[in-house]
Amino acid sequence: MLPLPPIGLGLWKSAPGEVHAAVKEALLFGCKLLDGAAAYGNEVEVGNAIKEAIDEKSVKREDLWIVSKLFNTHHAWEGDTSRPKAALDKTLKDLQVEYLDLYLMHWPVAIEQTDLKPYGGLRLKDGTPNPKLNLKIEYIETWREMLKLKASGKVKHLGVSNFTIEQLEALFKEFPDAKDRPEVNQVELHPYLAQPELVAFCKQHNIKMMAYSPLGSGDSYSGKSYPVKGTGPFQTPQGGMPLLQNPLVKAIGDKHGATPAQVLISWSVANGFTCLPKSVQPHRIAENLGAVNSCRLSAEDLEELKVLDCGFRYGIGYLTGYFDCPNAPWYTSGGGAGGVPIHRAVYRKVKGWVVGG
Ligand SMILES: NC(=O)c1ccc[n+]([C@@H]2O[C@H](COP(=O)([O-])OP(=O)(O)OC[C@H]3O[C@@H](n4cnc5c(N)ncnc54)[C@H](OP(=O)(O)O)[C@@H]3O)[C@@H](O)[C@H]2O)c1
Repeated sequence: MLPLPPIGLGLWKSAPGEVHAAVKEALLFGCKLLDGAAAYGNEVEVGNAIKEAIDEKSVKREDLWIVSKLFNTHHAWEGDTSRPKAALDKTLKDLQVEYLDLYLMHWPVAIEQTDLKPYGGLRLKDGTPNPKLNLKIEYIETWREMLKLKASGKVKHLGVSNFTIEQLEALFKEFPDAKDRPEVNQVELHPYLAQPELVAFCKQHNIKMMAYSPLGSGDSYSGKSYPVKGTGPFQTPQGGMPLLQNPLVKAIGDKHGATPAQVLISWSVANGFTCLPKSVQPHRIAENLGAVNSCRLSAEDLEELKVLDCGFRYGIGYLTGYFDCPNAPWYTSGGGAGGVPIHRAVYRKVKGWVVGG
């Protein structure tokens, strides 16, 4: 399995103006993996910070895992196979590096439009998919192009993100050779969304998992939502709280003298994932990177945390019916009080929507 560091720095929503300092702090604190994406709109600043850190000898290029993602706008589209290479070339130029350590297909979704701005972005203000965009599930032709990018030497390792078991199986069928398979699947993983079947499948097939939104994505459009307290679908008896404020997480942290964020990161690491907490605050970056030293969860702690797993997602897909959960904005019923009103209220307040995730 790919030997990725246990903890990396998440870069979604880290704004130009703050991401530069965050990356430099993280590298100084010993962080060895940066989880970026073209869709995060900050690769130029991230690249400047990496270059400075290397020039200042805070880190060596060869010790770093620089990760980026090919966004939906640059999949192969109906015979046009030039898009993935164009996307990688732009990312390499923005990051000022010769190669990426890991390149992920961001979503198994292709969009016809390459520039979303003239069309009003990825979603409408209420969070539903933008109907002006032409979207479809597509990943086979794009993966074929990504394999060529790896063969060119500009990418060391390839992986996918937001892939289900069915999509991984379809990819294996088309690309049966083990060397052509994804080495990573980066998906949302935290105690409210533990995804045991997907985790077991990836383990069986030697696919390393990267855990995104490990702290409950508090600064995203859905970060204030949470599963309802209860025993129905998407409910847990320990619900009613965003993840970082969950009383069970806090109680386990208190037992270890650790913060809730450290408990959540240790949960990821104990499960064998590479955890990707995002922060732009130096004291939190240090807290997060030090999670495993501050908090080693016992088998009993991990067993206790299983009660939180209820399939609740913070990240909602771009296609109706795809990665839905009752906090998807298109649900008006069926979720009960399942986070729907909270999600909507928060979404309205989000200004300057950042595509991707
Ligand atoms: N592949 C994908 O589709 C996908 C989707 C989503 C995310 N991701 C990746 O995963 C990363 C992490 O996910 P995320 O950004 O959704 O959210 P997250 O890491 O779960 O949560 C980030 C939020 O937690 C806060 N925070 C960080 N450390 C904290 C601490 N120690 N105590 C309290 N609050 C803390 C951050 O605020 P401050 O910054 O102010 O500290 C921010 O508000 C992303 O940045 C991205 O790299 C990938």
